[in-house]
Order: sequence, then C-alpha cells, then structure tokens
Amino acid sequence: MKDGLNISVIGGTGYVGLTAAACLAYKGHMVCCVDIDPEKVQLANQGLSAFYENDLEKILKHVASERRLMATLDYKGPIKDSSIVFLCAGTPSRKDGDIDLSQVREATRSIARALKTKKDYFVLVIKSTVMPGTTESVIIPLLERISGKRAGKDFGVCVNPEFLREGSAVKDFLFPKEQGIVIGELDEKSGDWLSKLYQGFDAGIFRTTINTAEMIKYARNAYLAKDISFANEIANICQRCNIDFLEVKKGLEMDSRIGKGRFINAGIGFGGSCFPKDVRALARKAEKVGIKPRILRATLEINDYQPKTFLSLVRQTIGNLKGVKVAVLGLAFKSGTDDLRESRSIPIVLGLLAEGAVLHVFDSKAGGRAKSIFGNKVHYSGTAKEALISADACIITTESAEFADPKLYDHMRGNFIFDGRRVLNCKRLNRRFIYAAIGFPAGDKI
Ligand code: UGA
Repeated sequence: MKDGLNISVIGGTGYVGLTAAACLAYKGHMVCCVDIDPEKVQLANQGLSAFYENDLEKILKHVASERRLMATLDYKGPIKDSSIVFLCAGTPSRKDGDIDLSQVREATRSIARALKTKKDYFVLVIKSTVMPGTTESVIIPLLERISGKRAGKDFGVCVNPEFLREGSAVKDFLFPKEQGIVIGELDEKSGDWLSKLYQGFDAGIFRTTINTAEMIKYARNAYLAKDISFANEIANICQRCNIDFLEVKKGLEMDSRIGKGRFINAGIGFGGSCFPKDVRALARKAEKVGIKPRILRATLEINDYQPKTFLSLVRQTIGNLKGVKVAVLGLAFKSGTDDLRESRSIPIVLGLLAEGAVLHVFDSKAGGRAKSIFGNKVHYSGTAKEALISADACIITTESAEFADPKLYDHMRGNFIFDGRRVLNCKRLNRRFIYAAIGFPAGDKI
C-alpha cells in the first residue's frame, strides 16, 4: 500500500496487539496502540516491550524513531482519526474452561464511547480469539447500544484471527504465506476495506462470514493440539513396545497425506496461552450445543497426563528422588519465549520438588519470570552449565537448540538425562550417560 493508513490497536501493548502494531507501522502505516496499562504504554513509547519476542524490539525501536508508532491510554483521539481499529484484548480461560470476555467487553465499551463523536466510516477488526457467535451477539450489539451508531452503515466489522506463533510472531505477521489470512466480514464493504490493508502481503486471503472466521481459529488450534496428543499417545505405546517413536515419526512423515512439518513431536505435551485454553473453550462450546467433544477431551486428557508419564519415567529410572540434584533445562512453554503460561515444566518441577529432589533450573529467557511461580523452592542458574555442574540428573523441558549440544552434558556429575522434547541426539552423547525420553526404548544402548 502506497499511502499509509491511520490505524488504532486496542490492547496494543499485549502480545498480539503490540506485534500487529509494530508490523503494521513497519509496513508504512501510522499506528497508535491504545491500552489501559500505563507502564506498558510508557515502554511501547520507548520502543520497548514488557515481554520477550524475537525481533519485536528491533522493529519497535525502528518505527518509534520514525514516529510511526505511539502508545496512549486515550481511546478518543486515536479512534477519531483511524480508518481501521484492531481489537486485540485478551480472552483468558475461566475456571470452567469458558473464555473470560471481560477485557473484550471493557474495550468494546471504550471503543463505543469514543465512536459517539466519530464522523468517518471505519472498520473494527476483531483479532481477539472469541467463540463463534461472540462478535455478532456480544461485540456488535454493545457497540451499537453505547455509540448509537449502526454496524454496516456507520462502521464495518471484520473478524481477522491471528495465527502468530510465539518466538516467530514478527515473521508470521510480516510473511503470512504459510498460515494465510482469514477475513470474516459483516458485509462486502468491511471485507474490501480490510483486504486492502493486506494487499502488499504475499499470502492468500480467504473471505468468509464472521462466525466462520471465529470457528476457523479454534478449529486450527484444536487440530494441531490433537496431532500433538496423538503423537504422544503413539509414543507412549512405542515406549512400552521398545520402539523408538522418532523412527516411527520418520515413517509417518514419508506419507504425503501426513507429511513433514506436522505437529507430531512427542514429549511432555503442549502448553502456552493458546492450545490448552482454546481446546478447553471449544470443548465447552460443544457441550453447550449438545455435542460430546470426545476428541477434544481426549486431547486435553492425554496432554494433562504427559508430565505424569514423564515423571514416572524419571522415578523408574532413578528410584528414590530425595536429595537427588536435578538440573532442569528450559522452563518456558517452548523455546524462544519467556512465556510460562501452562508450561509443562511447571507440573514437572512441582512433581520433582514433592519427591524431595533438589532443583537447579535454567532458562535463558524465562528464568526471571519463573521466580514468581517457584519462589525460593529451586535454585536459579545463570547458564545451563552452571545448572549442570553439580547435577546427578538432568531434565530438558524445552526444545532449545542450546540443549542439543552433547558436550554440554559432560559438565554433569551424574549420568541421567531425561529429554522431554527429544532435542538431544543421544548417539552423540558420551557413553557413560543413561538417556531416557518418552517414546525412546528403555534400556537402549546409546
Ligand atoms: C500456537 C499455534 O501454533 C499458532 O498457529 C497460533 O496462532 C497460536 O497458538 C495462537 O493461537 O495464538 P504457540 O502457542 O506460540 O502457537 O506455540 P506452538 O509452537 O504452536 O507450540 C505450542 C506448544 O505445543 C508448545 O508447548 C510446544 O512445545 C508444543 N508442541 C508443538 C509439541 O509438544 N509438539 C509439537 O509437535 C509441536
């Protein structure tokens, strides 16, 4: 697009909001992040982010220096001038598995109040992950009631789900070819308006209804999560049959209907702010509409069980864990992020502590954040080597490339390595080690 647009991003200092805002500014638009958190607003104005994401601060600094991105607590000014307003408020899980819409409702009310005095047509784009039906039955009625304006006449509405992966979110936003762009539109004009914004992106655009776009987001995440649980179930069976799941995986990937790059890495299961929450919410939705969500429930059940299976493997291999020094490498729910939400490392660390193990934990990005979860129950190491030096055993919980170096483990005092993500090629390890992993034949020579 030649001339940049004026864009507001509500919830603009959160994970999805700030990534979208920075990338859109990088593409040449004038972007204003609106948020209710003064500290994060101040950080964004300095080109900084409250969370770690690859490349994000680099482009934030760049666009802030060119004055194409600013952040504010005020809704009115930015919305008045914007032709596109993104809604990126968070939708966390409630205890019963449903999503908590309070942030979305609050942001919608603030947008609606700002709309009262807005004269020009604009399109509201929902990026928050919301259950099918939410935009039509909650967001639009709230907007119309408070603002006195009419959707489809005074403003347009689209649902444009985000397909960003933590750790590669900037790349995913700027180069969405692999994921494609989904636009659920209230009417043709809304869809045309948003499609223009994505014209310069090298990716297919699929235009559909608002409810369908909302469902696509859930269906994708549920599909991927189901693949992971499937892989974990097969790996658990492989383990009992003395078969290496990695070899089975190669055989699976040869079939083009399964293919390479699928989410079939077995281990301790999936975590993060998306898969567990989205699968739970979709299962709840299914139950509400009278469908028994068998696959979704099994996906969650297997996932909840994987850390327990992993802990049993540790117990069976080492025996009594009381006083055993264990190095835990990786704490985040995956590598390349400092995000600990629903990380599989949490039940593993707590399980080891309950059995009396002494833990030295290391995560290059999430180490600091972990203090709010584990407090002084564990020792925090500054490097992987430091965690390993006095360790009798080591547990790997993220797929970080750093942990794939077999020489790293030569620093260990003891011999036990438990690989929760199959990052290590055990054949390259010194032969003194006893290597164990889910889906790896017990007692196999390394
Ligand atoms: C996920 C999706 O991959 C994105 O497409 C989606 O946009 C995003 O959720 C979202 O809804 O916002 P993300 O949560 O960042 O992205 O992380 P993933 O790379 O998908 O990994 C999720 C979890 O699954 C991690 O704990 C990872 O270790 C685990 N995983 C992944 C496996 O256990 N096995 C695999 O084969 C792949």
